[in-house]
Amino acid sequence: MKKALWPLLLLAAVGFDARGAKPPKRSPELLAQGKRAYAIWCVACHGETGAGDGSAARNLDPRPRKFSTDKFKQGSSVNQIFATLGKGVPGSAMGPFNNLSDDERWALAWYVLELKAGRK
Ligand code: HEC
Repeated sequence: MKKALWPLLLLAAVGFDARGAKPPKRSPELLAQGKRAYAIWCVACHGETGAGDGSAARNLDPRPRKFSTDKFKQGSSVNQIFATLGKGVPGSAMGPFNNLSDDERWALAWYVLELKAGRK
């Protein structure tokens, strides 16, 4: 019984590593899912348009920056944003979002790119 768990653990460990992960294709459905998740998990700090002006942002140091104009320290490809959501931003209030499924994190990563491009 116990032995049967090892392959599962291994799969979980591999799944956790985003480097080799392939993003699902950007689609209206995925963006809608990302928008919904953003309103729940991100808006308090990042603000509705990603301007870094959420209700909880004022007291943060560093403050969340503006997605549309400021540099993403950990990279702004969809894979890199997906990875950021898995590990958070060390030294900031932004923690890891491992409570979310991979699907949800991909949806969020694509949605962040919408905000970065000034679309919402
Ligand atoms: C508790 C507040 C908080 C929440 C909630 C939060 N963030 Fe952040 N986030 C921050 C802060 C603060 C930074 C800026 C960190 C820095 O500049 O060092 C940041 C940075 C980022 C960055 C830029 C990372 C980089 O490479 O510079 C992205 C992308 C991001 N957040 C996405 C999200 C998404 C998507 C969510 C929701 C799932 C979320 N954040 C939830 C506070 C938060």
